[in-house]
Amino acid sequence: GIPKFVKIVEVGPRDGLQNEKNIVPTSVKVELIQRLVSSGLPVVEATSFVSPKWVPQLADAKDVMDAVNTLDGARLPVLTPNLKGFQAAVSAGAKEVAIFASASESFSLSNINCTIEESLLRYRVVATAAKEHSVPVRGYVSCVVGCPVEGPVLPSKVAYVVKELYDMGCFEISLGDTIGIGTPGSVVPMLEAVMAVVPADKLAVHFHDTYGQALANILVSLQMGISIVDSSIAGLGGCPYAKGASGNVATEDVVYMLNGLGVHTNVDLGKLIAAGDFISKHLGRPNGSKAAVALNRR
Ligand code: HMG
Ligand code: MG
Repeated sequence: GIPKFVKIVEVGPRDGLQNEKNIVPTSVKVELIQRLVSSGLPVVEATSFVSPKWVPQLADAKDVMDAVNTLDGARLPVLTPNLKGFQAAVSAGAKEVAIFASASESFSLSNINCTIEESLLRYRVVATAAKEHSVPVRGYVSCVVGCPVEGPVLPSKVAYVVKELYDMGCFEISLGDTIGIGTPGSVVPMLEAVMAVVPADKLAVHFHDTYGQALANILVSLQMGISIVDSSIAGLGGCPYAKGASGNVATEDVVYMLNGLGVHTNVDLGKLIAAGDFISKHLGRPNGSKAAVALNRR
């Protein structure tokens, strides 16, 4: 059967906004995070402490954290690509961080400018520092079913990187279909390989919806025992280093499906839709959630 409760990890303020060309004002980011937290989401990924040359949109990470790090009710993790990022995050009041590796060598090079093995060395340093500060570390693995350069990625490669992140102390590992290319046909064998090395309750799924497969992929993941799902408000986003990758599955659509399945999430769909409308209006584009558009029409 499928889990009775699903933890949704909202990644919109980070994954959603990182690819936006026009710089979103800090105050808008802060209001978005406040609205997401007050909708009942248990985890809202707030920003990234990455190089501002690589991701200019998130150059205000410190200011965002200064404004939100006293919010109650949700955990607010941030991405940290190296020790420099980790130290900046902790100084800004971050209480949880995420490190991000790849199952594809080419994507590792284009996203974080180093090989998979180099990244694992770097992340071990971050994980050690985090342990000293009692800061929980989430791990991401990108390109779990396909890479924009290399094409299909072997499940055994994904399982290898997942196990490395788990062994260095990540409390949870999120499996990223960065370019949204997977179907249940490729997602199921990938999950089988990963679940052979790390327990299902330590795994999250992170589907971009480029090919419209995300909800189907989430459903098969739930059927296999996964109970943590990443999603992005209004379907915002895409990775700046994965050309053509569109946003994550929309949080509103995930909540609508889970409500229909009788799965609890703690999220107020009405407040969530208002948050999605707020940021879509600011960005000047239609809400990317089909459920939000349909419910707004009623
Ligand atoms: P690099 O150029 O190799 O780094 O970038 P470096 O160590 O040689 O440093 C170069 C410059 O960057 C130096 O500054 C450093 O101080 C600075 P300079 O001396 O030239 O003035 N620097 C930093 N500044 C601020 N914060 C830092 C930091 N580190 C170095 N933490 C690096 C390597 C990893 C830093 C760079 O490639 C980078 O920031 N990459 C981030 C890319 C990124 O954020 N991608 C999107 C997130 S991942 C994603 O979206 C996938 C995911 O959603 C899952 C999925 O969908 O699959 C998670
Ligand atoms: Mg992503």
